[in-house]
Amino acid sequence: MNERDSEILSQVLLDHGYHENGDMDSADLVILNTCTIRAKAEQKVMSLLGALRKCKERKPDMKICVAGCVAQQEGERLLQRMPHVDVVMGTQNIYEIDYLIDKVNATGKPVVATDMSRDFRIPAFLPQAHPTPAKEKYPTRSFKRFVTIMQGCDNYCAYCVVPYTRGREISRNPEDIIEEIRVLADQGIKEITLLGQNVNSYGMQSQDTPLPCSFPQLLHRIAAIQGLRRLRFTTSHPKDLSDELISCFGDIKILCPQFHLPVQSGSDAILQRMNRKYTVARYLERVEKLWQIRPDLALTTDMIIGFPGETDADFALTMDLLERARFHGSFSFKYSDRPGVRSAGFSGKIPEKVKTERLALYQKRQDEISLERNRAYVDTLQELMVESADDNGFQGRTGTNHIVHVEGRTELRPGEFAVVKIIHAGQHSLKGKLHPQGELRVIKNLFL
Ligand code: 5AD
Ligand code: SF4
Repeated sequence: MNERDSEILSQVLLDHGYHENGDMDSADLVILNTCTIRAKAEQKVMSLLGALRKCKERKPDMKICVAGCVAQQEGERLLQRMPHVDVVMGTQNIYEIDYLIDKVNATGKPVVATDMSRDFRIPAFLPQAHPTPAKEKYPTRSFKRFVTIMQGCDNYCAYCVVPYTRGREISRNPEDIIEEIRVLADQGIKEITLLGQNVNSYGMQSQDTPLPCSFPQLLHRIAAIQGLRRLRFTTSHPKDLSDELISCFGDIKILCPQFHLPVQSGSDAILQRMNRKYTVARYLERVEKLWQIRPDLALTTDMIIGFPGETDADFALTMDLLERARFHGSFSFKYSDRPGVRSAGFSGKIPEKVKTERLALYQKRQDEISLERNRAYVDTLQELMVESADDNGFQGRTGTNHIVHVEGRTELRPGEFAVVKIIHAGQHSLKGKLHPQGELRVIKNLFL
């Protein structure tokens, strides 16, 4: 989501005569697009802002903008802590970046724009220009893109700051989404990832006005767009994972066999205190159903370790769930208090040392399982979308989103497709070699 917001920010600025300069020291404007989901993310912003203070002492005309969730959360407070900041711009104000900078230039005073009280709508057409011809020879954006389909979240999980920093859940009009993707497909984009905090509850234009399109219906409509080869989406909430959505994995050919389904804990008691609204049994039942329809589907999850009140027995249940689901991969985090969330006031906070130990145990076992899972791909044929290529070989991704390295010179270019045989599995990536039949046909767009 932040990556897509950064693209929008740079697009708005490019349209207003700015150009990208990767060097913080010589830039006229530095934007930090920030995340506050966990304490560590926010600490990184604060230390980078400290470093920027020195840059600004050397270059007093430099403007510094803090965008995104930290800006939304801190507002005016941020200016008090960091007086060298010029613009504090919340999550729903990113389209105003050029106007806000002009205002700072005109008045010589910092501005804070964090208003979420307006009846905000995502603009019909989000800027999605061609990638800037810069450092990268083949920018990823020339063949795959993110498309935002909704913003905000209404779920209020007890630990989560998102409903406060991103606002209420609003879905984008399906016609606008389809049009944006059609334009991208015409430009040669092959892969789209649909973005939202909770994409499978897509469908409400505002809190009480439904849109005439569910998420599964939207997927079917997008799949009919000429030229697209791969469709992904993130993120989903287990409580909203309908049978209709599951059956899309059997019906929609371009829907990639990959699912990110955050579970957060293996203990029902903890899930209840987290306000997640499902049980471990229900989660596993959904996952089983997905695998019945798409046995090759790669499942990943998010896991919070050390939520307030997590006992040894609760943690054992989390380890047990890992054994049962055998996730292909996990993003696992130590719980941290966030400002204003309900769990910040919960008793039974877990000592840092215990969280660290539990997280290490979880991650060690997940790494082993990822490797075991990856080994199962050895000797299989996989279709790759090439993402980068040079004289020594190329790198691509499978539909399951695994990175595969292939050695040897190739005619293949990013955005093209190849069939490879997997010859080696590591924990985080695979190695492959071009399939002979693929070589004969130079592999270009084999399945088009
Ligand atoms: N502490 C730790 N992890 C958190 N997440 C969200 N809030 C917190 C928190 N307070 C994790 C969840 C979520 C992911 C994006 O970040 O696992 O799915
Ligand atoms: Fe946060 Fe996701 Fe829960 Fe929304 S569904 S409150 S974004 S964890």
